[in-house]
Amino acid sequence: MMRGLWRGVLSKRGPAEHFWVSVICFSVLVIASFLLFEQQIQDLVAQLDLYLPQTPAQQFNLALLVIALLALDVVLPVPSSMVALLAVAALGGVGGYLVIFIGLCLGAWLGYALGAGYFRVLSGRLGLHQRKPGQLAYTLGTLSLICLRGVPVLAETSVVAAGMQRYPLRAFLVVTTLANAGLALAYSAIGSYLVAQNALLVTLLASMVLPGLFIAGYSLFKRLRQAPEQALRGRFEVSYDYPVLFTDHLFDPGNSCLHRQLTAGRHGRVTVLIFADEHLLHCNPQLAAQIQSWFAAHATDLHLQAPPIAVPAGELSKTADVLQQLYRDMLDHGLDRHCYVLAMGGGALLDSVGYACATFHRGIRLIRLPSTVLAQNDAGIGVKNGINAFGQKNLLGAFYPATAVINDFQLLTSLGRRDQIAGLAEAVKVALIKDEAFFQWMEQQADALAGFDHAASRHAIRRCAELHLAHITGAGDPFERGNGRPLDYGHWAAHKLENLSQHRLRHGEAVAVGMALDGLYANALGLLSDAETERLMDLLARLGFNLCPPELGLKDAQGRSLVLLGLEEFRQHLGGQLSIPMLNRIGSSIDLHEIDDRLMEQALLRLSSRGSAALALNEGCTP
Ligand SMILES: NC(=O)c1ccc[n+]([C@@H]2O[C@H](COP(=O)([O-])OP(=O)(O)OC[C@H]3O[C@@H](n4cnc5c(N)ncnc54)[C@H](O)[C@@H]3O)[C@@H](O)[C@H]2O)c1
Repeated sequence: MMRGLWRGVLSKRGPAEHFWVSVICFSVLVIASFLLFEQQIQDLVAQLDLYLPQTPAQQFNLALLVIALLALDVVLPVPSSMVALLAVAALGGVGGYLVIFIGLCLGAWLGYALGAGYFRVLSGRLGLHQRKPGQLAYTLGTLSLICLRGVPVLAETSVVAAGMQRYPLRAFLVVTTLANAGLALAYSAIGSYLVAQNALLVTLLASMVLPGLFIAGYSLFKRLRQAPEQALRGRFEVSYDYPVLFTDHLFDPGNSCLHRQLTAGRHGRVTVLIFADEHLLHCNPQLAAQIQSWFAAHATDLHLQAPPIAVPAGELSKTADVLQQLYRDMLDHGLDRHCYVLAMGGGALLDSVGYACATFHRGIRLIRLPSTVLAQNDAGIGVKNGINAFGQKNLLGAFYPATAVINDFQLLTSLGRRDQIAGLAEAVKVALIKDEAFFQWMEQQADALAGFDHAASRHAIRRCAELHLAHITGAGDPFERGNGRPLDYGHWAAHKLENLSQHRLRHGEAVAVGMALDGLYANALGLLSDAETERLMDLLARLGFNLCPPELGLKDAQGRSLVLLGLEEFRQHLGGQLSIPMLNRIGSSIDLHEIDDRLMEQALLRLSSRGSAALALNEGCTP
C-alpha cells in the first residue's frame, strides 16, 4: 500500500487524495534542507556578492538573461517571482524594475501570440492550436487579466487563453502593459526592501514554499465549502465498438458481409426489419426483391420480418409524424431488443430511423446501410440521430451508436448528380480542418470528383469517413458534452440556409456555402491567408457548388441579414456559449467564442459579389 502511495505522490498525475501528501513532503524537504544546511546556505549567500555582476557588460548580460527567463515563463517552468527578486538584488531597484517590466511584457505577448496561433510551428509543437481555452476563457475579462498577472501558472494560462479566444489585441496590449508596470513596481519595491533588510534568504525560502501552501489552502477551502454532506455517487463506463465496412453489391448471393454482422456472437435465428429510403427503392426497383431472396438464402440464421418498408425520404421526412409511423411499424412487427433494424438510405432517413431505434424499448439494435455520399462519409459513421421539430433542425435526438455500418458503393450509382456532389462538401470540410494532404489530393482530383469518377469518389468517401470516425472516437467527446466541435465547420450558416430555403438546399450544398462564408471571415480576421482562402473557394467552385444561393441575400424588416441571425440560433443550440470553428490554415482550425458582426457582414457581401460574378459568366444568379 505504501508503494502505491509513493508512486501516486511521485507520479505526474497522481490521484487527488495524494495531493496533500505531495504538498507536505515538498514543504518538509525544502524547510528541512534549509534547517540542516543553514550555515552552508548562509555562507553561499554571503559569497553571492562575488558573483554579482560588477562591470556594465556583465550587468547587461544578466539583464538579458532575466528578460529571456521571464519572457519564456509561458513555455518553461520558470519561478518568475524568484527570478524577479534576484534581478532586483543584482541590478538594483531601477535596473531590476526595467528588466522585470520588459520580461513580463514580452512573456505576455508571446503567450498571446502562441494562443492565437501566430507562430504556427511552435504552437503546433506545444499542441496549443488544438487546445481549448477552457473554463478560464469563459470568465476571462479585463479585470481577471489584470488580477491574474501576479498569480503563478494562471498568469501564463490567462494570456494564452486570451490569444485563443482572440481577446482584442489592442486592448490586450494596453491592459497587460499597465498591469505589468504595476507588478514590476511591486517586485522592485519588495526586492529593494528585502535587500536592505538582508532578508533575501528568507524570501527565497518563502517564494518556494508559499505558492504550494497557497494552493493547498485554496483547495482545502474549496473542499470545505463544497461538501456539507457526502453525496452518493453513481459511476460506470460503457464502451462502444462498431465496424465501418466497405463493400460492393451487399445483397449479391455470395456477399457475406451483412450475414457476419447480424450473426456475430448470436445463437438462434435473428429477426430483422428493414426501413428503406423511398427514393432509393424507387430508383432501384429490383432492390426489394433482391433483399428478400438474399434473406431467404440465409433463412436458417436470419428471419426478415417483412419486405423492406419504404420511408418518406429527404430532410422533410425528419418529422414527428414519420417517427410515429416508425414506432408503429416496429410495434406491429413485434420487435424486441434482440431484433435488428436495418436503416437503408440517406442521412435524413438514418437520422430519423436511428432516433426511433434509440428510443424504442429504450434501444434496439441498429445496422446502418448508408445510400448517399454524405451518409457514407459522414452521417452514417457517427453517433448522432434526430429529427427536426418546432422549426428547428435536429432539435430532438439521441446519441446512439449503430452496431455496424456497411457502405455499399454500388448504392450510390442511382444517386442524382446533385447528391453525388453535395456529399463531397463534408469531405472538403474534414480535409480543411484535419488533413491538408487530403485537401491537396482533392484539389488534384477536383475534375474527377466533380464527374463522380469511381476510383476518386471511393477514395474521397473512405478517407472522409476515416477522418470523421477518428475524430468522433478519438477526440474524447463523442457525445458532444463540450462546446468545441470542429466537425461543425461551416455548419452554423448551413443550418440557417437549409431552414431559409425550406430544405430546397441539400445539407451538403448549404455546408459548402457556410464553409466559403467562414473562410472569407477568417481571411478578413487575418487568420487565413489570401492564398489559402482562394484555394478553398476555388475547390468548392470546381466541384460544382453554387456559393451564391438566393437565401444568402434575405433580410428581415429591419434590414438585418437572415443568415446572420443563424449565429444566435447556433449559440442557443450550443447552450449559451458560442463556439465557432474557424480555419487558421488549411488542415487546422481553432474555436472562436465571439464573432464580429460587421466583419461577418462584409464576408457575406464579399461572398455574394463573388458568387454573382461567377454565375454571371454562366448566367443567372439571384442574390
Ligand atoms: N447524424 C449525423 O451525424 C449527420 C451528419 C451530417 C448530416 N446529417 C444529416 O443528414 C441529412 C442529409 O443527408 P443526405 O445528404 O444523405 O440527404 P438525404 O437523406 O435527404 O438524401 C438526399 C436525397 O437522396 C435520395 N436518396 C438516398 N439514397 C439514394 C440512392 N441510393 N439513390 C437515389 N436517391 C437516393 C433521398 O431520398 C433524398 O431525396 C441532413 O438531415 C443532415 O442533417 C446527419
